[in-house]
Amino acid sequence: MKSPAHRKPKACVIGWPVAHSRSPLIHRFWLERFKIEGSYEMAAVAPAGFPAFLRDLARQGFAGANVTLPHKQTAFELCDIRSGAAARLKVVNTLWIEAGKLCGDNTDAAAFACALDQDAPQWDINSGKAVVIGAGGAARAIVYALKLRGMKGIFLINRTRARAAELASDLGGSIEIMDFADLSGALAGANLLVNTTSLGMRGQPALAIDLAALAPDAVVSDIVYVPLETELIRAAKARGLRAVSGVGMLLHQAVPGFERWFGIKPCVTPELRGVIEADIAAAG
Ligand code: ATR
Repeated sequence: MKSPAHRKPKACVIGWPVAHSRSPLIHRFWLERFKIEGSYEMAAVAPAGFPAFLRDLARQGFAGANVTLPHKQTAFELCDIRSGAAARLKVVNTLWIEAGKLCGDNTDAAAFACALDQDAPQWDINSGKAVVIGAGGAARAIVYALKLRGMKGIFLINRTRARAAELASDLGGSIEIMDFADLSGALAGANLLVNTTSLGMRGQPALAIDLAALAPDAVVSDIVYVPLETELIRAAKARGLRAVSGVGMLLHQAVPGFERWFGIKPCVTPELRGVIEADIAAAG
């Protein structure tokens, strides 16, 4: 039998459902680019089978995995070792095996900041006021990233106020909770607006917001990437603001996993972005 060192490295994305995931396209692009004889697979695993699948991950020959809905929280619970970000956010999206231990990281927070650094350089130069809409898993990662990057005033607006309050209490520091009814006040002079909800996604209602009150140099970021240009992104561009779609975050969250499993740190290039954007556009 060959030793693990001689096996072709392989990883997968685990979800339920998983067919919509763009992770295989991203990782296979890099595998081909670096001429690595590895593979990246899709694993459709129902919640009941998820713990057993993880216990068996190494035996199945996987170096690690990405985890998507609905497994991100369970993955956190099942890890032997967690990164600082994962421990703080209680959510894991990237797994790898080290000395027989299951290790987990949350790469969404860093990915959000990297995407803004790439698409709206110096977005945090004023360390000013940020308005975040939504209080789910993605919002947690984004608020954490904003705090790490020194945003001084973070205003959190969510349909379910209690969920926003829970997020603020978990992450600590100065996060002000507001209601949708107070949105125009919250936006006044803000330097950054982020939509972390599913509003604007294909099949969902649009997030229709009057952006007039934002600071003239404000950045508007939407984590939605289907469609590529949401109503919010269109409105930001129409006002002459810098607008950042969700594709950048999707691409950057994949980088740390690829590096761990396949040993090379890949870059998010315009070519890769073009491939993913074309795939999203083709899916219509
Ligand atoms: P994710 O992990 O992608 O953040 P999630 O945890 O299900 O997904 O969170 C979804 C977010 O979108 C929540 O903030 C949710 O608001 P609630 O906490 O009130 O459920 C928000 N959201 C989804 N549909 C919405 C809608 N129609 N109007 C307003 N907010 C919505």
